[in-house]
Amino acid sequence: MPEEAALPPAKRFRPGSCPPGRRVVMLLAPGGGGAGGGRRQTPPLAQPSASPYREALELQRRSLPIFRARGQLLAQLRNLDSAVLIGETGSGKTTQIPQYLYEGGISRQGIIAVTQPRRVAAISLATRVSDEKRTELGKLVGYTVRFEDVTSEDTRIKFLTDGMLLREAISDSLLRKYSCVILDEAHERTIHTDVLFGVVKAAQKRRKELGKLPLKVIVMSATMDVDLFSQYFNGAPVLYLEGRQHPIQIFYTKQPQQDYLHAALISVFQIHQEEIEAMSKTCRDIAKHLPDGCPAMLVLPLYASLPYSQQLRVFQGAPKGYRKVIISTNIAETSITITGIKYVVDTGMVKAKKYNPDSGLEVLAVQRVSKTQAWQRTGRAGREDSGICYRLYTEDEFEKFEKMTVPEIQRCNLSSVILQLLAMRVPNVLTFDFMSKPSPDHIQAAIAQLDLLGALEHKDDQLTLTPIGRKMAAFPLEPKFAKTILLSSKFHCTEEILTIVSLLSVDSVLYNPPARRDEVQSVRKKFISSEGDHITLLNIYRTFKNIGGNKDWCKENFVNSKNMLLVAEVRAQLREICLKMSMPVMSSRGDMESVRRCLAHSLFMSTAELQPDGTYATTDTHQPVAIHPSSVLFHCKPACVVYTALLYTNKCYMRDLCVVDAEWLYEAAPDYFRRKLRTARN
Ligand code: CDP
Ligand code: MG
Repeated sequence: MPEEAALPPAKRFRPGSCPPGRRVVMLLAPGGGGAGGGRRQTPPLAQPSASPYREALELQRRSLPIFRARGQLLAQLRNLDSAVLIGETGSGKTTQIPQYLYEGGISRQGIIAVTQPRRVAAISLATRVSDEKRTELGKLVGYTVRFEDVTSEDTRIKFLTDGMLLREAISDSLLRKYSCVILDEAHERTIHTDVLFGVVKAAQKRRKELGKLPLKVIVMSATMDVDLFSQYFNGAPVLYLEGRQHPIQIFYTKQPQQDYLHAALISVFQIHQEEIEAMSKTCRDIAKHLPDGCPAMLVLPLYASLPYSQQLRVFQGAPKGYRKVIISTNIAETSITITGIKYVVDTGMVKAKKYNPDSGLEVLAVQRVSKTQAWQRTGRAGREDSGICYRLYTEDEFEKFEKMTVPEIQRCNLSSVILQLLAMRVPNVLTFDFMSKPSPDHIQAAIAQLDLLGALEHKDDQLTLTPIGRKMAAFPLEPKFAKTILLSSKFHCTEEILTIVSLLSVDSVLYNPPARRDEVQSVRKKFISSEGDHITLLNIYRTFKNIGGNKDWCKENFVNSKNMLLVAEVRAQLREICLKMSMPVMSSRGDMESVRRCLAHSLFMSTAELQPDGTYATTDTHQPVAIHPSSVLFHCKPACVVYTALLYTNKCYMRDLCVVDAEWLYEAAPDYFRRKLRTARN
């Protein structure tokens, strides 16, 4: 690492000004809420119970900034069809608003849905709220995430991922079950939230027209840029919650950090899991050699795919005499709130999806954050007391950041969204009322892809789904993977394909602690297939099954047993969908060529070929790509491969590869490749 990195903060940073535009307007006067709030329409809160844990929970509920506004909030929300609610992360929006609405009787005629962009957040929030309500999870308060439904007939408050609510809208576009939909973390603008905006708005309008129970829509955001939300929901009023009270000092670097930004950060930021783990380890190692008298350091990694029990560790207080250091992805930016953070170090970088409709490549790329994100990160310090934020960029650099994050819907492959909209029988996807319209190029590219997968029918300028398209929409998967499963019956390898697709649908089942790399490599050897990563993963899953899911085996083989169990669950559900469609579910019985053929026939749009100079280029648009070091094929030079993910750091890497025969590809989509070849020659 360059010398500068070792300088003490005072030498490298200069103070910046305080957050601009933080005019926090508090429309909600304090003193309105609570049992003693004195407002007739405010229903009383439950009395604190005797258990010390419950009592602590109750006390904490009452000390949240939102609590003082409870009465007013409820009065306002009761009367409004749509509202936008802004409040700092941690002010109590997500955990309290659904409870206030429930206590106010809003859920009598329908469930209150709270959407979350992240699966972990939905689960942990449902757990927290059911604890606060002193009920068993899945009863009054439950959650639904992909492949997991913990709700019952009694459920009145339901946390669910935005993707799941979208799925429910396929079978019921009026969302009849719900009296209220809370679109939470709206500032994150995930692709599913963005589509939901349109779906929920349409449901609300249609219900009104039909004289049905009105649908209340509450958009919640942790950032102030909410004009767009308000406009979109017909000028919905914006309610502000009291802001943070403690000042935060900002420090920018004095010099642009070209050198180690590129060298260290970018390489450090290659893969969330690995980078966060590696950085944590380095921190721990350095901390061991701190001079006497320095407080000890407790270093905790935090990322979405970290086992849940380990994620929970970040919430626990540090032992006496320790400083707690959390090395986190942007999961801590808004969706998780950790108390007691005093210092924030903001790298100014984020790993996000980028899509180019011309090349058809959707990659995860390391890029600059927006100003909004930077302020959000800053805000993590100073929640309980004054704080300090070190920004690893200069103030000039900061000024050049984009004001707002480009919503995911404008930088993603839209094939999944278009398939879902068509499954909901949206009459014209090109004129769908998106809050932020994706470019027509992106929509056309998605339509072209779905066409290639045989999902679309064009009749009199009207787009509808073919029977295959309908079947594809029944799987909670990316269209190409749904197609892989559907095709597998033709290749008599559905059992194998179900396993592979399930393995690709959950976080990695392989645990790779960087400190034990050699050990990992030697135990993995026995599973490795020269046919690629998918077949290797299949071997690991099979052994896991044969061994009866033995935990010791998992430990010895660096396999994440929790994720493995999840794979088994996902697989069971996907298999169930196949059986419901009366699809024959057969095994290829060790014939891996059929499995590879099946992958080639469905994923032909994600393939690359070896070039005469030893590099790789994508088969269709000839983009340069490389084999990722984590692939079992890293040291091999197969002539032709199918990949299932792309990661962009200093170059474009293919991850999860399978060796295929180029002939199979042309056989799978002759017109496609003929057309692409023609364009390439022109
Ligand atoms: O939604 P918002 O960011 O405004 O806040 P919240 O998620 O409702 O969290 C309110 C408070 O509850 C936080 O400050 C946390 O201290 C606490 N909380 C918790 O302890 N455990 C959870 N799983 C969720 C929230
Ligand atoms: Mg929240």
